[in-house]
Amino acid sequence: MDLYVASGNRHKKQEIAEILPDFNIILPEEKNLSFNPEENGSSFFENAFIKAKSLYEITNQPALADDSGICVDALDGEPGIFSARFGSENGEKLTDADRNNYLLRKMEGIKNRTCRFVCCIVLYGGENRFISVQETLEGILLEEARGKNGFGYDPLVFLPGKGKSVAELSGEEKNLLSHRGKAVRALASIIPGFLAKNTP
Ligand code: IMP
Repeated sequence: MDLYVASGNRHKKQEIAEILPDFNIILPEEKNLSFNPEENGSSFFENAFIKAKSLYEITNQPALADDSGICVDALDGEPGIFSARFGSENGEKLTDADRNNYLLRKMEGIKNRTCRFVCCIVLYGGENRFISVQETLEGILLEEARGKNGFGYDPLVFLPGKGKSVAELSGEEKNLLSHRGKAVRALASIIPGFLAKNTP
């Protein structure tokens, strides 16, 4: 069964595809669709909703969107919904490594290092029809990057229960406990019925 995912992030596609093996995940770029909605919401939910609805309006097919990021308590929840753009000055996004270094510099000397990944998923099926779940993964911000797996801020987040950073987990281990894994799994059993009802 095809499932449109409103994202250009191949890491997210890979994680979602592993959690939903019965679906053929399609990104807009794979259908040569021009998809670049303005993410001007003020919460993870609003941005996920904007992305899912925009893709639905282009394809007329149900669309799933993920909006996610990292919230650091000592920075009053920053970078939060601005995680992808954190540290960029002229609109150009930094590389993952540069963005991580920027966050580490901001946190230099700060003792309270609690943080969490947040992921909001919206599956939009037409005017007034959607389902949504938001989940978290709690961790401690490291003082230097550890591990090579995953993407984004994964090397900076230590999981005390595992004794590893998120980037030291295998893809399978990350999916079992991650913000995205928990949110997508919560929806998994209701997606087929939702698609059946909302696919023209
Ligand atoms: P979005 O694509 O606008 O939702 O931006 C999400 C940003 O948050 C990504 O570019 C990453 O920097 C960060 N992020 C979201 N999920 C994860 C994750 O699972 N691991 C590490 N970083 C993440």
